[in-house]
Amino acid sequence: MNTLPDASLPVTQSRGELVVIANRLPVHRPTPNSPWETSPGGLVSALMPILRERKGVWIGWAGSSEPACSPFEHDGLYNVPVSLSAEDVRDYYEGFSNSTLWPLYHDACQTPQYNRAWWAPYVAVNRRFAEVAARETAANGHVLVQDYHLQLVPGMLRELRPDVRIGFFLHIPFPPVELFAQLPWRQRLLEGMLGADVVGFQTRHGAQNFVRLVNRYTAHRGSGQTILVNGRRVMAREYPISIDYDRIQQLATNPQIVARSQEIRKELGENRTIMLGVDRLDYTKGIDQRIRAVYEIFKAGRHTVKDLVLVQVSVPSRESVDEYIEVRDRIEKLVGHIDGEFGTVGAVPVHYLRRSLPIEELVAYYLAADVMLVTPFRDGMNLVAKEYVACRRDDTGVLVLSEFTGSAVELDRAVLVNPHDIDGMAATIERAIAMPPAEQARRMRSLRQRVRKRTVYTWASDFTRALTAEQPTGAQPDTVDLNRSTS
Ligand code: G6P
Repeated sequence: MNTLPDASLPVTQSRGELVVIANRLPVHRPTPNSPWETSPGGLVSALMPILRERKGVWIGWAGSSEPACSPFEHDGLYNVPVSLSAEDVRDYYEGFSNSTLWPLYHDACQTPQYNRAWWAPYVAVNRRFAEVAARETAANGHVLVQDYHLQLVPGMLRELRPDVRIGFFLHIPFPPVELFAQLPWRQRLLEGMLGADVVGFQTRHGAQNFVRLVNRYTAHRGSGQTILVNGRRVMAREYPISIDYDRIQQLATNPQIVARSQEIRKELGENRTIMLGVDRLDYTKGIDQRIRAVYEIFKAGRHTVKDLVLVQVSVPSRESVDEYIEVRDRIEKLVGHIDGEFGTVGAVPVHYLRRSLPIEELVAYYLAADVMLVTPFRDGMNLVAKEYVACRRDDTGVLVLSEFTGSAVELDRAVLVNPHDIDGMAATIERAIAMPPAEQARRMRSLRQRVRKRTVYTWASDFTRALTAEQPTGAQPDTVDLNRSTS
């Protein structure tokens, strides 16, 4: 099943001038026989205009282990599905991507598994994507490779198509040397990323970690934002991703959504302070610690269900990976515990919604919430924080934000917390609940300005501009680190 059925399918359009490669296609089918629908998300909407303008192609997995269907056009974009067998899903997606790289890159907040049987499938699937891209990209075209699933693709594609310019963007954190060094395949992964001309990260720290690692574990040398790879200049820097600010603002002023938010407030109790959490159901998001902090607030007795409530929306994710099953169990036990202890007939401290909500409904919740809790242990960026801020046009509301998110770099006027410190988090949430309106307004105004200034469109244009800019070859890095070793 690991041959190249997709690559041999007839090509019905001329090759793409701009090609995006991501683990997932930007479309999905709610049921196997229903028509394709565009998946929600800022990345898709940000890249869509440039893709349509530049004969774009999107290469990705359609999300099931069925054999991939033929390339097709949807909403002005040419989609090229790549097939993953059931074994690929197990070893490349659930295994190496989500049980090795994902926990390691998120500060090893769950123990990463270094299973040797997953490496070969990861290499094989990356090669499959690279071969499809090599076939689909026009001469001198541009290719944008997305995320940790496909870190080897830039290097493989460069070998197949030296004429194309390649950008790689990592949506999740890139870890410090001490953590990345654990990876038995560290050098191969770094070399794979170095196949790109521009390697983008969410934060400056991520980019700096990458340059340090390249110096230590490869034969190439880098300094500042530049790495020299056999006379070719590779740029490594931060491009913080964001949201479609105008779209969120429009939704936040839509009369039906505003009415829905008032209804939510009424249902929850007009006089209660509403706290909100919205996350993929992932162990990196710190949902359990957040609920523990809320537990401490009720236990201290300064608040009761009469005046305080948390709505926790948890979107199911990667449900066949053990750690995801475990974190769901932990959270559900905690919700039962806190509701059992502090709830009354008719009022509970935590409302737990385990489902995905349409963006219109989410915005209604953002509008209804007085305090937004975004408390991951580690997060590449976190767009929920930015969406909440974009909705708060009347300058009310408080964002409580983990200092370990990429968003905290820009949103430093949020109330920052350490999610590992339950007592500290409880005290900070209480401070947020009690924050005077004038302080809320000062902070929220400044936060909104930050989000308005750098949207997902800024991200897309900065990243593609860096890629299309002519780069002088043979440039020397500023300094050379002589202390590096290779592995
Ligand atoms: C993160 C990753 C994305 C991924 C998403 C959903 O945001 O950076 O690449 O698509 O999670 O996860 P899933 O495994 O369902 O694609």
